[in-house]
Amino acid sequence: MATRLATVTTWFDSADDATARLRAAGYLTDDATALTAYLAGALEKPLLVEGPAGVGKTELAKAVARAAGAELVRLQCYEGLDEARALYEWNYKKQLLRIQASGGGDSWSETHDDIFTEEFLLTRPLLSAIRRDEPTVLLIDEVDKTDVEVEGLLLEVLSDFQVTIPELGTISAICRPFVVLTSNASRELSEAVKRRCLFLHLDYPDAEREKAIVTSQVPGLDDKVAAQLVDVVVRLRELELQKAPSIAESVDWARTLIALQIGDLDEATVARTLGVVLKHASDQQRAIKELQLPR
Ligand SMILES: Nc1ncnc2c1ncn2[C@@H]1O[C@H](COP(=O)(O)OP(=O)(O)OP(=O)(O)O)[C@@H](O)[C@H]1O
Ligand SMILES: [Mg+2]
Repeated sequence: MATRLATVTTWFDSADDATARLRAAGYLTDDATALTAYLAGALEKPLLVEGPAGVGKTELAKAVARAAGAELVRLQCYEGLDEARALYEWNYKKQLLRIQASGGGDSWSETHDDIFTEEFLLTRPLLSAIRRDEPTVLLIDEVDKTDVEVEGLLLEVLSDFQVTIPELGTISAICRPFVVLTSNASRELSEAVKRRCLFLHLDYPDAEREKAIVTSQVPGLDDKVAAQLVDVVVRLRELELQKAPSIAESVDWARTLIALQIGDLDEATVARTLGVVLKHASDQQRAIKELQLPR
C-alpha cells in the first residue's frame, strides 16, 4: 500500500485557545476540560471522558469538531457491537455476484485478488475515520456499553491510529483523528484502553457555569429565573435520587419556563413542572418532601 505523507492538524494552540474556541462553538468548559482538550490535540492522544449522564461528554466531542471545522465520525457502542459494525466488513452479496458473473472460469487466486479489493469493502466508523484525509473527530460513544472484547478491536486504532485488514494490509491514518471516548462508568474499562488515553472526569458544573450554559442555550431566559432554576437543580442534586437532573434537563426546564411565560420560579411552579427534571416517581416524591413543595 502506498504511504502518504502525514498531515498534521493543530487542534488548539493552548488551553486558553481551547476555552475560547469551544465557547465560540457553544460549549462552556472549566479549566480542566479545556486543558485536557488542548493536550489531547497536542499530544495526539485519545481522550477518555467519564462521568454521569447528561454532563456534556458527547457534546464535548461535537464541540471540538465544530471548533476545529472538523468532521465528526461517530461509533455508537452497544452490547453486541462487533468488528463488522465497528471496523469494516466485506460485501458478501456483491462478492458472490462477481463470482457468479465471472462464470467460474477464474482460478481461486484470480478470484481472491478480484473480490478482496476496495470495491467490495464496506467501511465502518473506525476505518472511515482513519482513512479520512481531512481533520476528523472520532467519537467512540458510550464505550462501557460494549462487551470487553470490543476493547481489543479499539487498541490498534487508539495506539497506532491504524487498522489491519488481512487481505489488504495495514491502513494507517494520514491525518490523525482527534479521538474522544465517552463512558458512564457502568463497568471499568480495561487498563490497556485507559493506558492509551488521557482521562477526564466530567461532573455537574458549578452553579455559575450551569447558569451560563442554560442562559446561552435558551435565549430570552430571564436572569433571575435562570438563577432560581440553577439553585433548585443544585438542591435536587444534593438529594439521594435515582437519577439526578442533568444539564440537558436544566436546559429543558428553562425552555419549559419560557413556554409557560414564568417570570418567577416559585415553589408551586417547581412542583407543577417537576416532570421535566425528575423522571422517576420516587424521585419526585422525595423532592416534594425534602424541598417542601406544595402537592
Ligand atoms: N459545557 C457545556 N456547554 C454547553 N452545553 C452543554 C455543556 N455540557 C452539557 N451541555 C448540554 O447538555 C446536553 C447533554 O449533554 P451530552 O449529551 O453531551 O451528555 P452526555 O454526558 O453525553 O450524557 P449521556 O451519558 O447520557 O450520553 C447537550 O446537548 C448540551 O446541550
Ligand atoms: Mg452521551
